[in-house]
Amino acid sequence: MTTLLTGGTGFVGKNLIERLQGVTVVSRSPDSAKQRLEQEGLSGKLDDVIQWNNGLAEEDLARIQPIHSVVNLMGESIAEGRWTDTKKEKIRSSRVDGTRNLVDSIIQSGNLPKVFISASAIGLYGDTGERIVEEGAPVGRGFLPEVCQEWESATAPLQALGVRVVHLRIGIVLGPRGGALKKLIPLFRTGLGGPLGNGKQWMAWIHVLDLVSLIQWLMDEPISGAVNATAPNPVRNMEFTKTLAKALGRPAFLPAPRFAVRLALGEFANSLFISSRIVPGVALSQGFQFQFADIQSALQNAIKK
Ligand SMILES: NC(=O)c1ccc[n+]([C@@H]2O[C@H](COP(=O)([O-])OP(=O)(O)OC[C@H]3O[C@@H](n4cnc5c(N)ncnc54)[C@H](OP(=O)(O)O)[C@@H]3O)[C@@H](O)[C@H]2O)c1
Repeated sequence: MTTLLTGGTGFVGKNLIERLQGVTVVSRSPDSAKQRLEQEGLSGKLDDVIQWNNGLAEEDLARIQPIHSVVNLMGESIAEGRWTDTKKEKIRSSRVDGTRNLVDSIIQSGNLPKVFISASAIGLYGDTGERIVEEGAPVGRGFLPEVCQEWESATAPLQALGVRVVHLRIGIVLGPRGGALKKLIPLFRTGLGGPLGNGKQWMAWIHVLDLVSLIQWLMDEPISGAVNATAPNPVRNMEFTKTLAKALGRPAFLPAPRFAVRLALGEFANSLFISSRIVPGVALSQGFQFQFADIQSALQNAIKK
């Protein structure tokens, strides 16, 4: 039994491969993916790397042993580059059409997995202000909530066939060598880090090691539907900023006003100012144990490495 993994060359994907035995990675560029994963010392974990071409070739799927789990992490980066109309269409279609095409390829092959774990994001809830939000909360309004909703709906044909599907609503992933900290640490090291706006907005985060543990746990737990992948203790942006600065031994007093961040980053900046007080209702109620439940321990660990 193997795991079929899209987005395996990304930040979360590489951390997940480290934990697994027998992974078939799906990539737009299999040769360079193989090389990159080999450089990371992960080639021993791989069964194969197969081509993503807006779908999977039937012969590639036929070669794979029975699939136990599909983990679907592919998606055009949200944080890189300005959100032009073309970029927004890539953000949407790489997730929505990508997931739909992946689901269609799997159904056509008849090689149905036991579970399909598909990335989504806490962006689905929109700005939730001071409200504490669990999985039952409504979808927000705007570009990201709409993309997330469509992204989740794209798995419907598999659910209709009785496959267990999990929508992992992921918060800001913290860990060494990737994600938000890869951008923030150099900024804070030069003393340029600071709160965003008034710093009161809530941030829902998760350590990458807890995220991959949660994915592994969900492979076998009989849970389906939405699962918030966030640590139990979201923090205000001000607390996050102070904790990161302290962990790096640097000051953090330059607040970044919204107009300046928007000027620098374009529309993506808006997502940094919204409040997300999201908590992992399903994971906690079903007994998942977080290794990094508080921001101090998560940041200290991520920076140490
Ligand atoms: N990191 C976070 O803080 C965070 C937060 C919330 C949600 N998420 C979601 O979790 C998933 C994994 O996150 P990550 O940080 O590991 O992402 P990542 O490092 O950006 O990796 C994503 C992977 O997706 C593939 N990809 C990139 N652009 C694509 C496109 N246009 N079409 C098809 N595939 C494309 C790439 O694989 P190949 O080049 O090998 O094809 C890439 O390695 C993503 O879906 C992301 O939206 C992440």
